[in-house]
Amino acid sequence: MTTLSTLNKFKKDGTKFTCLTCYDSMFARMMDKAQIDTILIGDSLGMVVQGHDSTLPVTVDDMVYHTANVARSNDSALILADLPFMSYVTLPDAVINSRRLMQAGAHVIKIEGGRELCELVTTLAQAGTPTCVHLGLTPQSVNVFGGYKIQGRGDAAADKLLSDAKAVVAAGAALLVLECVPADLAKAVTQAVAVPVIGIGAGADTDGQVLVMHDMLGMVHGRVPRFVHDFLTDERNTTHSIEGAFALYQQSVREGSFPAEQHQFS
Ligand code: KIV
Repeated sequence: MTTLSTLNKFKKDGTKFTCLTCYDSMFARMMDKAQIDTILIGDSLGMVVQGHDSTLPVTVDDMVYHTANVARSNDSALILADLPFMSYVTLPDAVINSRRLMQAGAHVIKIEGGRELCELVTTLAQAGTPTCVHLGLTPQSVNVFGGYKIQGRGDAAADKLLSDAKAVVAAGAALLVLECVPADLAKAVTQAVAVPVIGIGAGADTDGQVLVMHDMLGMVHGRVPRFVHDFLTDERNTTHSIEGAFALYQQSVREGSFPAEQHQFS
């Protein structure tokens, strides 16, 4: 079973690890079989499961329901679950909602933001709840960004992201996710912090990689993001199966062939 200690060892040894989003039991079983290292019950379910155009409508009840469905069907992965939009603005709300996700089967709570999360990160860590802080393109802030845009470009933005990452790790964050940032910035953050860093659209130098499951199975509504690869129709998936796609993703991340140059931003 993958734990935070496993991921810390992976970082130390330079072993790249995988994460996929997952929202239900059958896919959780298939990911178990493919030995996907970590699973994220992402609030991206608002888009790929519920059909919304952002993650904002997702509720804590939705997250608890999907986390429980996944957790009861996967014994091997470290399970991360998102606190959804506006469910962690106040400390009491954040604590109550984190408890619900942990009791549903999450091992780590993921939250979006920067240094403003430090007090919450420390409070949860002291209460036995590890956090993963998601930086860069944080989809819950789409209305602040004015769209889904690359973050951390330019010296000032890069310096801010790097110092936010260091601050939340100093506050006790156990993991980081970096989304849609230039590859050299993601590399700098990964080297600067002691905890494992998971990237999506962040180049090949983060410790782990995450993709939205539907994206990597070629189920994309609208424009295909640059960082996505379709592992289902990849010719190396000789069984043409979903299990085969998961196994190929696991193998490609481990051996360092995914992500490639064309999946990253500069
Ligand atoms: O909700 C989600 O799926 C995520 C990943 C894109 C990292 O946050």
